[in-house]
Amino acid sequence: MSSCADSHVSFHVLTLFPKMVSQGLSASVTGRAFEKGIISLETVNIRDYTLSRHKKVDDYPYGGGAGMLMQAQPVYDAFRATVDRINESGGDGEKARVIYVTPQGRCFRQDMAKEFAGERDLIFLCGHYEGIDERVLEEIVTDYVSIGDYVLTGGELPAMVMIDAISRMVPGVLKNSESAEIESFGNYLLEYPQYSRPEIWRGKSVPGILLSGDHEKVEEWRLEQSLERTRRLRPELYEKWAAENQEYFIKKAKREERARKKALKQKKALGGS
Ligand code: ADE
Repeated sequence: MSSCADSHVSFHVLTLFPKMVSQGLSASVTGRAFEKGIISLETVNIRDYTLSRHKKVDDYPYGGGAGMLMQAQPVYDAFRATVDRINESGGDGEKARVIYVTPQGRCFRQDMAKEFAGERDLIFLCGHYEGIDERVLEEIVTDYVSIGDYVLTGGELPAMVMIDAISRMVPGVLKNSESAEIESFGNYLLEYPQYSRPEIWRGKSVPGILLSGDHEKVEEWRLEQSLERTRRLRPELYEKWAAENQEYFIKKAKREERARKKALKQKKALGGS
């Protein structure tokens, strides 16, 4: 991994639909981060690199079969031009990770987002049609990554999903209040439920503890809600969290034991009087 003192990440997306990517990421949190210069985005139109007179980038697969394949030449030349630009900007284009978004890849996860956020340059390759000629993939791709077990019409949406998730792990992209939340809950757990004004809506009240002003109790309640939700909806994530946070259960058991003894003592004292 090429570490980067100022944490800036440059995304380079090789695609046949550059506007889809640049427009999709230009709003909200990523848009704000581009404007602030914390991250940057270069879209590279693969079609600009075809040597074909008719601007063709696809052809029939050898051996037959459905659909068309993206050809090696325009993809390779778009990649080489991107590497050259990275080198000119002071990076090491030859060492940049090249992520091919494909349903055949490793499933994208939060820890991957964190890891990728430590890179200076990330090149995304978006396929279309039935895929890309295997020879250029062998030549340039370092990571094959999927966003889930379903097939989309192209790699642009998965690349945008990953860029969004990676961006929010880059220091400065989220506002302090937003990033503090990630740190306090760490990996694996689902979000606790949240409430805003009014206090009662359609007869439903905000849980009383959130109005108590007792910060410690609120944090405890939130963690318990997160744990309960994760255990119910994503038991495999809960098991991972539990395995890494044994001390939480030990402390909880001790707390409950103390509370039980205290209640017993009070009961005895009342019975004795
Ligand atoms: N391209 C098409 N479907 C995809 C998926 N599920 N993940 C990544 N890239 C894809």
